[in-house]
Amino acid sequence: MTVSFYPDIKTVSGVNNSHATSYRAWLQYTFITSTTYREQVMSLLKEMECLNGSDISESIEQEWTFAIRKMIGFQPAVVPEVKGNGLRIVYVDSMEKEAFHIKNEDGIQILAGGEAGALYAVFTLLRHIQRQGDLHSLNMKEKPANPLRIINHWDNMDGSVERGYAGESMFYRDDSFRENIVRWKDYARLLASVGINAVSINNVNVHKVESYLITERYLKDVARVADIFRAYGIRLLLSINYASPMEVGGLTHADPLEEDVAAFWKQAFDDVYQAIPDFLGVVVKADSENRPGPFTYGRTHAEGANMLADAIAPHNGIVIWRCFVYDCHQDWRDRTTDRARAAYDHFMPLDGAFKDNVILQIKNGPMDFQVREPVSPLIGALKQTNVIVEFQLAQEYLGQQRHAVYLLPQWKEILNFDTGHEGEGTFVKDIASGKTYNPTHSGIAAVGNLGDDYNWTGHTLAQVNLYGYGRLTWDPTLNEDDILSEWSDLTFGQEEHIQQLLEAILLPSWLTYERYTSPLGIGWMINPGHHYGPNIDGYEYDAWGTYHFADRNGLGVDRTVETGTGYTSQYAEQNAKIYNDPNTCPEELLLFFHHMPYNYELTSGKTIIQHIYDTHFEGVKGVESMVANWEALEGKIDDKRFSDVLERLKHQLSHAIEWRDIINTYFYRKSGIKDIHQRKIYE
Ligand code: GCU
Repeated sequence: MTVSFYPDIKTVSGVNNSHATSYRAWLQYTFITSTTYREQVMSLLKEMECLNGSDISESIEQEWTFAIRKMIGFQPAVVPEVKGNGLRIVYVDSMEKEAFHIKNEDGIQILAGGEAGALYAVFTLLRHIQRQGDLHSLNMKEKPANPLRIINHWDNMDGSVERGYAGESMFYRDDSFRENIVRWKDYARLLASVGINAVSINNVNVHKVESYLITERYLKDVARVADIFRAYGIRLLLSINYASPMEVGGLTHADPLEEDVAAFWKQAFDDVYQAIPDFLGVVVKADSENRPGPFTYGRTHAEGANMLADAIAPHNGIVIWRCFVYDCHQDWRDRTTDRARAAYDHFMPLDGAFKDNVILQIKNGPMDFQVREPVSPLIGALKQTNVIVEFQLAQEYLGQQRHAVYLLPQWKEILNFDTGHEGEGTFVKDIASGKTYNPTHSGIAAVGNLGDDYNWTGHTLAQVNLYGYGRLTWDPTLNEDDILSEWSDLTFGQEEHIQQLLEAILLPSWLTYERYTSPLGIGWMINPGHHYGPNIDGYEYDAWGTYHFADRNGLGVDRTVETGTGYTSQYAEQNAKIYNDPNTCPEELLLFFHHMPYNYELTSGKTIIQHIYDTHFEGVKGVESMVANWEALEGKIDDKRFSDVLERLKHQLSHAIEWRDIINTYFYRKSGIKDIHQRKIYE
């Protein structure tokens, strides 16, 4: 099926004309005022050679003609053969499917390995034109570094989104699929424009109703979504419930080694592929946070995953098995159990035991998407297992899309981390892309930050994280500054002043957030449950394994080999050594790895307690300047986006003050040590 209309904002539920700039995100296609540039485009790209009429080809033609009309003011003719100047797309067998080469040689040409490559090339060229890039010396040769570039939705069929901060689900309402094809198509356009090629559309916590997504009850609807995404080169995944053989199939158990269970899954996948022949596969959260899994039957994760892998293999499907497995019923009195150790302890012994179409999806850190964590020690350690690195776009612990936090600097740091597992230079980015171990499948996934809000992401500035995620997974060598300037040109126009202000606001925003919240890698000082706002002891005596152990002398978690949990030994030798010693441990992670006294002196010459006070005062100052910089944009960008963002930044400021005062007071009361600068700390 082809969805051959071009989206019209007026038909998207909850979106009206005043929301247009917010909704278009980075696909504004603003009219280019330079006559010289427009004339150049008109002469070089008068026509476009038509393609073969497939779904993706149709998207390519639509995207190209629509965007050129909006930016340049003329509609390029789609012709059977370009004779003079025009855009020609040529498929080259020797190129990889998603690769492309855009060049100007006897006219502008796109050489592509396949339709997806051509689609990416068109979006790249449109971006280039919007930024008024040179068209004469065009020579852009690209292919994605990561084969799988995934967004995981945590959407429930009742319409809610787990950890969703941007409205309701764009897919579901009241246990049914929404009639939302215009938004779905616009979503697919946004994703394809930055190279995302796979999406899972339901929460990893698969409840009763969602367990039926793989059945006749919903497969027609799932197929409708797949149709729309297919036209943009995006393949569909579903999260499944490991207990489906019981919940859906009426069996008495879900033991992966029993034949009736295997037969259930085989039939289920046959049905899914009947409805969606290019279905990509399934995402599984098993034996994690009270979800069912193979442990119930005394089976390993490998046995559990391999059974599904066999059932889906005849269709070339994949099983993405999450490694977020730990004891969530821990006793806080028990100092020997360390949640950070859990993923490695569970999965490392299984390296090499998984089938070729199983991929382990590993969260970037060992805990859970905190402001700062070390890289998960499993990444790089698993050498004979397919691996995907999991990020979180949803800012669950990073201000929930009410605080502006540009996540790219965090991801860059993670991707550039040297795990040391194959000697110096075994970077996370190369493990994710498959370069290091050459696995059968690899890539990056991220929990989405989207909902049905008119600006998609709740905070208009959070759009940059989705944009940046796509760009970075396509090419992890891009740097955060360049990605930001691309995004700001496309989203807010090319005025230098606007770009400088956005850079001043966003580039330091992760560090600013870290300063007023969580010092030196400690994490978890948030309200339990919803995870918004400060609550230093909120999790301290709870069952989740998330403690800071602050007492009157100091704080932090001793994860050393000698006196602590031994977690540091999970890293390759060189890193293990560095982390194990407080004198060599990177200071931003000091309290993640060590329990340290308040008066321990950091390299800055400050004590830990003084560092806590200082960073919290600085963090608030940082937000004050974010607000001031944004206010300087008044009149330079449209009123709607201006006022939406201003409102959130003002909230961020008052909330940062709350964080600062609660943290500073807490540690002042614990330590009894005064701020040497005698600033206001409440008693
Ligand atoms: C976090 C998050 C949960 C989520 C879980 C997961 O714990 O708070 O909502 O289900 O991660 O990644 O599975």
